[in-house]
Amino acid sequence: MERLRRAFGCRWSSDVKLDGKTVIITGANTGIGKETAVDLAKRGARIIMACRDMEKASAALKEVIELSGNQNVVTRKLDLSDSKSIREFAEAINKEEEQVNILINNAGVMVCPYAKTADGFEMQIGVNHMGHFLLTYLLMDLIKRSTPARIINVSSMAHSWGTINLEDINSEKSYDKNKAYSQSKLANVLFTRSLGKKLQGTGVTVYALHPGVVQTELWRHLSKPQQALFWMIKPFTKTSVQGAQTTIYCAVAPELETQTGGYYSDCAPANCSRLASDDDLANRLWNLSSQMLGISWD
Ligand SMILES: NC(=O)c1ccc[n+]([C@@H]2O[C@H](COP(=O)([O-])OP(=O)(O)OC[C@H]3O[C@@H](n4cnc5c(N)ncnc54)[C@H](OP(=O)(O)O)[C@@H]3O)[C@@H](O)[C@H]2O)c1
Repeated sequence: MERLRRAFGCRWSSDVKLDGKTVIITGANTGIGKETAVDLAKRGARIIMACRDMEKASAALKEVIELSGNQNVVTRKLDLSDSKSIREFAEAINKEEEQVNILINNAGVMVCPYAKTADGFEMQIGVNHMGHFLLTYLLMDLIKRSTPARIINVSSMAHSWGTINLEDINSEKSYDKNKAYSQSKLANVLFTRSLGKKLQGTGVTVYALHPGVVQTELWRHLSKPQQALFWMIKPFTKTSVQGAQTTIYCAVAPELETQTGGYYSDCAPANCSRLASDDDLANRLWNLSSQMLGISWD
């Protein structure tokens, strides 16, 4: 009954305050990211909304401040499809911020037509995984100095039907937009697993999650028939506020402080796929990602 209540829309309720904490949320100008920003701002945190489109970001900033009553909310430019932008963003954060207590890797693209990032990665693996992998790496020292700290990777149940094609991670030989999305979301869970292990004992904990099937702009690239289908199942889907609840739970729930590397859904621990628990695959993805990004991260 409790599970059903959580699955269908209730807000995760807790009075945990975040006064004095700093939170970065990628893709915070709309959807789940924006609602997460509103909630965590209401709890008193300084919120950095990391967005690629500064016009959309300004409009969202106004809304987040109005809805939360918290003036300590700012926007910063971050385009996860370009490592130059990621490095500029991280450099500014490392210079300007004394701490980052919660990093929420939320931004995402789904089933888009084939395209490449500025660094030559297929867009979905590039933005959803590689971009966040590099961002986390570049902020790691600051996050480690801000403990207790949390890193949250917004994945999806779509990871369950994903595989990682280590020989052709950029889908250059053949591109299936659904497979590429699932691959990127599986990469989020594997990254969480590896990072959780590497950060054991540092005071930084890591979580991956499925937010539910949520009415957001994520569905923008669906075909007309797919959009019609989504319209039909709308009563069984979540609003953005409801879809943000598992992210908020992972970011603040006191009972998760001793947990790391796991996967969550409907504000509770959940089972991930067999491949998502494969340590060998997680290591190989880690090494490939580091190599492709030209970084050395042990
Ligand atoms: N909605 C669902 O049913 C669902 C289900 C499972 C998982 N998820 C996951 O939830 C997360 C949030 O998605 P959402 O549903 O809230 O979708 P959304 O409304 O489309 O929001 C996605 C956000 O990511 C941003 N973004 C896209 N490409 C970017 C880039 N290159 N650099 C920086 N930001 C970028 C978007 O910016 P623009 O506004 O400028 O495009 C937007 O702010 C995603 O990781 C998604 O995979 C969603």
